[in-house]
Amino acid sequence: MEMAPIQDSRSADRTTILEMRGISQIFPGVKALDGVNISLHPGEVTALIGENGAGKSTLVKILTGIYVPSEGEILIDGQPVSFSSAQDAVDAGVTAIHQETVLFDELSVAENIFLGHAPRTRFGLIDWKVMNARAAELLHALESEIDPTIRLKDLSIAQRHLVAIARALSVEARIVIMDEPTAALSRKEIDDLFRIVEGLKKQGKAILFISHKFDEVYEIAENFAVFRDGRAVGHGRLSETPQDTIVRMMVGRDVSNIFPKVEVAIGKTVLSVENYCHPTEYRDISFDLKRGEILGVYGLVGAGRSEICQSLFGVTRPSSGQLVLEGETISIRSPRDAIAAGIVYVPEERGRHGLALPMPIFQNMSLPSLARTSRSGFLKAANELALARKYAERLDLRAAALSVPVGTLSGGNQQKVVIGKWLATLPKVIILDEPTKGIDIGSKAAVHGFISELAAEGLSIIMVSSELPEILGVSDRVLVMREGLSAGIFDRSQLSAETLVRAATGNA
Ligand SMILES: Nc1ncnc2c1ncn2[C@@H]1O[C@H](COP(=O)(O)OP(=O)(O)OP(=O)(O)O)[C@@H](O)[C@H]1O
Ligand SMILES: [Mg+2]
Repeated sequence: MEMAPIQDSRSADRTTILEMRGISQIFPGVKALDGVNISLHPGEVTALIGENGAGKSTLVKILTGIYVPSEGEILIDGQPVSFSSAQDAVDAGVTAIHQETVLFDELSVAENIFLGHAPRTRFGLIDWKVMNARAAELLHALESEIDPTIRLKDLSIAQRHLVAIARALSVEARIVIMDEPTAALSRKEIDDLFRIVEGLKKQGKAILFISHKFDEVYEIAENFAVFRDGRAVGHGRLSETPQDTIVRMMVGRDVSNIFPKVEVAIGKTVLSVENYCHPTEYRDISFDLKRGEILGVYGLVGAGRSEICQSLFGVTRPSSGQLVLEGETISIRSPRDAIAAGIVYVPEERGRHGLALPMPIFQNMSLPSLARTSRSGFLKAANELALARKYAERLDLRAAALSVPVGTLSGGNQQKVVIGKWLATLPKVIILDEPTKGIDIGSKAAVHGFISELAAEGLSIIMVSSELPEILGVSDRVLVMREGLSAGIFDRSQLSAETLVRAATGNA
């Protein structure tokens, strides 16, 4: 009873920079947003939470002038505004880091940061000196010493994300939107980003923060808003709301993060990696993988986990070492060789790899397994559809129909399509790099359950993950990597968070 007046006075005190009222967005066959309201306040972070496809990125695109909403109004400082272009939104003081920020490989880091708003000389030419210096400053604030003059294509995935963040911060804005900004960052880079967010809060900026990771949400945000199927279903203060309550709002039921592990009879050795070495990324890695086994690969970002996987898939080549598949020494020089041998890799950076965005879901799914779906040389759409339907169901894919272009799916649902497409090739060995990154908490357990089922069907699985609960929950054995070396292989019976973290960080 005491609480009520306090709450009233607080909400009366708080100023609102931005208010969205009754916003709807309709796409063919989908009502992505249905009359949502949301407010942002100066000096506060509001976390926008919801399942894959709930409408979060759509809201971001409305706020940044990419879509004009079918209904509703946007108020800034109480005044109605309408954005008919991205520039309108920037002019009104809104900036965003998008889930898939478009950057240009052939341009320099500084050009990417200032594309469209480069500092100019008094003759109207791009002022390269000022631009490079300002880019360096922005990156420095992110604790990154990336050289602003190098081309983007020479950067790692995490560095590209820092460039996208620097780009968003390069415009003067009062409202900063971050759509899954941490998905590709290491813990250290996340800490740097959060320090910057704290700085933005102190400057009185209002921040909208989208993430599927609850620990981050509770760490950085004051407020939350939950979307479900395009509707705003709850909002409030995080300090007063436990995670369970929010998860229930999100999915309408209690969920467990990790699907209980299914014990599977482990068979004979399928793949042996012997003394694999790479000139720069890893050294002397050896392990066996058995039929029905899930081998977790744990380590800090940069430990060489993705690099070894890429070598197994023929993206890069080891400088020495042997690969034995079902008793035969094989040599894999390209992804083509790997797929032919029955080894497939679902990369971490799924956004940029391997989806034909304008093509329907079912064609994307069956792309690498055409040999199986096309009997006697021509495609059987019915087979393709059946295949796609099977994987869509098992992965809990949310889409209006399997015939819609993949590009119209939400980020997380696009990732499910990539996983499905590789599984449809019926490989012997599948390498999953961070399989649930960007996947919402409700679908996570579905993906884990699916991984277990695949193991039960006799597939051998290598799963790289930075999430300890996932590694501990799903793996039969865990290879820990540290600075390019093996820091030990642990049996399920020896697994604990402490053992793995110690091995990964070298703290005996
Ligand atoms: N351009 C488009 N054309 C058709 N449908 C679209 C388009 N963009 C989004 N959608 C649909 O709108 C819904 C909301 O998608 P949105 O990308 O906003 O989800 P999200 O909450 O950001 O999900 P995620 O967590 O997976 O990123 C989805 O059903 C999606 O398929
Ligand atoms: Mg999204």
